[in-house]
Amino acid sequence: MDKILQIIKQEKKRQEETLMMIPSENYSYPEVRTAVGSVLMHKYSEGYPKKRYYQGNEFIDEIEQLCRSRALELFKLDSEKWSVNVQALSGTPANLAIMNALLEPGDKILSMFLYDGGHLSHGWSFKGKNITLSSKIWNINFYYVDPATGRFGYARIDELARKVRPKLVVSGGTAYAPEIDHRRLYAIAKKVGAYYLADVSHEAGLIAGGANRRPFEYADVVMMTTHKTLRGPRGALIFSRKEIADKIDSSVFPGVQGGPHNHTIAGIAVALEKAKSQEFKNYAHQTVANAKALATELKWKGFRIVSGSTEKHLVLVDLQSKKVSGWFVGWALEAAGIITNRSTVPADSATPYYPSGLRLGTPALTTRGMKEEQMKTIAGWIAKVVEHIGARTIPEDPEKRLKELKAFKEEVFKDKFLLGINKEVKALCNKFPIDLG
Ligand SMILES: Cc1ncc(COP(=O)(O)O)c(C=O)c1O
Repeated sequence: MDKILQIIKQEKKRQEETLMMIPSENYSYPEVRTAVGSVLMHKYSEGYPKKRYYQGNEFIDEIEQLCRSRALELFKLDSEKWSVNVQALSGTPANLAIMNALLEPGDKILSMFLYDGGHLSHGWSFKGKNITLSSKIWNINFYYVDPATGRFGYARIDELARKVRPKLVVSGGTAYAPEIDHRRLYAIAKKVGAYYLADVSHEAGLIAGGANRRPFEYADVVMMTTHKTLRGPRGALIFSRKEIADKIDSSVFPGVQGGPHNHTIAGIAVALEKAKSQEFKNYAHQTVANAKALATELKWKGFRIVSGSTEKHLVLVDLQSKKVSGWFVGWALEAAGIITNRSTVPADSATPYYPSGLRLGTPALTTRGMKEEQMKTIAGWIAKVVEHIGARTIPEDPEKRLKELKAFKEEVFKDKFLLGINKEVKALCNKFPIDLG
């Protein structure tokens, strides 16, 4: 057997036996994996349905049209008013394509600061350095949460927008647990003549299932990745109002991409159909209920939850009061079989690689069928792990840091206490099996 296939088997086992608590991850459906692993990956089809630059696209056209109509149906959008592009390879190229469609080089963008829960693809420049391509092309300005509440003060964003006068206002909460008020942000954008892009990559499935508010009535463009709460393959959908749809399409292809990944489009179409079911609606509501239960239990255990609680599928834990870096907690939890994502918190003085927070999510646990009771158990394990490793800071001296962190990583995977929790985690995973084929 090819080594790669052997490694895939190991990865499958890892996914079965650990708690996937990264908010942007999920288990897709077996039918989605069938579509993505299908012969559709062999086909080239630059262009759009009925207007391709290649022959032999009869079935590819049917699939792409079906994907588009399923997307509009799922989100109850009038095809006279809304269009959807299903070809973007993922969230970052989708955002780049949107900016390229709506802006001229040098135009101003107002987006959410990364440390406060925003995303790199909304433009990231830091300490005078332009890090993403978008920040090299456009002039990125940030809005922030109020550090005391961890929530947006919309009046302050309004004030900032009037000062900056952006051409595009972007929202999108990668690590922002409250729901975003699209109505307010749309109004702020319109006052200064800007477009409003609602990036609902994280909330897509929650919106589809009715567990989070819809952005469509208050946005010019709505972008969502398809692999998070929506449970599809990695990809993205760009919904836009009809007036700007041609600009978006020609920006995706030939603007920033070549041939579409037809196998992915088919997988997205499968996931969209699944998301219309009552079962999916229940899933979306349970995902939020589980995140709330997790946040409540962690609070009881003495953790500070950024923004107080959650209204979505994610919980952001501030570890500063525990005097331990998210780096240590992330590795110790991994040794215990709990896979999380260390994260910056608002006004973090630490860096994104060694941040002060921990980002937790419930989408994959909920796909396994877990409920509030299991969230309580998991919160208990997290608290025990944090207590077990105790206060620890990242050494400033690079040599000392390298040595200490390497030793810590080796130690945790031999630590009897953590391995004991790992056993309990595996037993819980066995009780909630997942069909990975
Ligand atoms: C809000 C938001 N936008 C865009 C993206 C980028 O998606 P991708 O990783 O598919 O490029 C992410 C990814 O986590 C995200 O959270």
